[in-house]
Amino acid sequence: ASMAADDDKRLAAEAAMAEVVDGMLVGLGTGSTAAHAIRALARRAGDGLRIDCVATSETSAALARGLGLSVRDFAAVASVDLTIDGADEIDGGCRAIKGAGGAMLREKCVAAASRRMVVIADGSKWVDRLGGAPVPVEVLPFAHSFVARVLEQRAMPVLRMVDKAPYLTDQRNVVLDCRFAGLDPAADATWLQSIPGVLGHGLFLSEVAAAYVAEHGNVTRLER
Ligand code: A5P
Repeated sequence: ASMAADDDKRLAAEAAMAEVVDGMLVGLGTGSTAAHAIRALARRAGDGLRIDCVATSETSAALARGLGLSVRDFAAVASVDLTIDGADEIDGGCRAIKGAGGAMLREKCVAAASRRMVVIADGSKWVDRLGGAPVPVEVLPFAHSFVARVLEQRAMPVLRMVDKAPYLTDQRNVVLDCRFAGLDPAADATWLQSIPGVLGHGLFLSEVAAAYVAEHGNVTRLER
């Protein structure tokens, strides 16, 4: 990513800081944009803001703890006040594709547990129509060949690899990145969730309440 895009990611993250108030339990997203938010939160905590956090990935938990933030175990948390996360694509209705970083299942759980979820992004993520990016699908390794065969009915699934081995999520599942010929977000989300062996997917159609999108140094706030 370019330096300008990284500046925009930081600006979007800083814009979302206005939503964080004392006493909140804050959900931490995953990815390079969410990392800017984690650093901004740590600075605010250093200045006296009292918050607790839950993280959507081991990577974000480690970053936050390393910066001195209090990170609780989400397994013991039933409700989150505000989650701030990145996205791979976001449309004008605050519908998103997430999961290029592989954390979409935990991200979806934390988003669903949150009273409010906001997305932060640079302008390259803002699209008229979802579906340019592949939809990441988290799959039980036991069932991955069967699931890939079913997914081929409507998409081109590719097993995500890293260093010549299948990429594994924090839960030790595999990811099938799915390019749809013509994505129908609502219908395809329902269909994906109905396939045995599919544990989650990166379509976030109802979770996102607002988005802060920074482009060329200007932040636009999108509302659902
Ligand atoms: C992580 O699983 C994803 O959902 C991220 O939110 C997404 O990939 C955005 O990452 P960047 O901020 O690094 O683009």
